[in-house]
Amino acid sequence: MSAEDTPELAYDISQCVHRADLVPEALALWDGTALPGLVLRRLADGSLRSALATPAQGWQATSARADGALTQLFVLEGQVRIGKSLLGPCGFAVLPGDRPLDVEVLADSEWIVIVDAPVEGTSPEPVLHADCRAIDPFVPVIEGRRLDGFERRVLWLDPRSGADTRLLKVPPRFGGVGGGNWHPVEEEIFCIEGDIQPDDTRPMKAGSFLWNPARSIHGFNERTEGGCMLLEWHDGPWDLHLA
Ligand SMILES: [Fe+2]
Repeated sequence: MSAEDTPELAYDISQCVHRADLVPEALALWDGTALPGLVLRRLADGSLRSALATPAQGWQATSARADGALTQLFVLEGQVRIGKSLLGPCGFAVLPGDRPLDVEVLADSEWIVIVDAPVEGTSPEPVLHADCRAIDPFVPVIEGRRLDGFERRVLWLDPRSGADTRLLKVPPRFGGVGGGNWHPVEEEIFCIEGDIQPDDTRPMKAGSFLWNPARSIHGFNERTEGGCMLLEWHDGPWDLHLA
């Protein structure tokens, strides 16, 4: 993209919703299936980007998609068998639509599901983590500052697009990275537990979802009282710029 094509930075356009504010609908996640859930975000063309899915015990499907799109699945509650793997809470899967696996819900479940746009190149092998808390965490460094008390786990990094998905533990009384900031990519964040706010108008608790559009300035007064656990995902290589 040339400098002439680079869009202007936008200011304060993040969207925050809570699970309780969303209306249940049928999610067409994989070909020939529907499952109940709540849409977190749709793309401009109306296609599903992210959702909370709530399949009941006994629900079965295969993770095939004609468009080959890859589905990421994070287990909030319940138990599911995918292929030969059993996933419980904090389980995580990456399921390319052209390499389908059998999916069977063993106990009433709630998942965060993320549909990645098809990417040029050979689809990766499926990734399955029974409990991604077993992945080694590291302490992130932002603008040269080591964020002690944080634990970041990278659950998925698409080698083709640079898109990633992370589990992030934020310690109590964290007070932000220094005001407004922006990223070159779309950022979506789900609060799994605890509390956090990017600014005073968007308090988040367990079940809250935040979308920070690419090149939008956000995080004006980021802070948490009791700490939190977040799932964060992006559609390309993430970077942070202070505004
Ligand atoms: Fe951000």
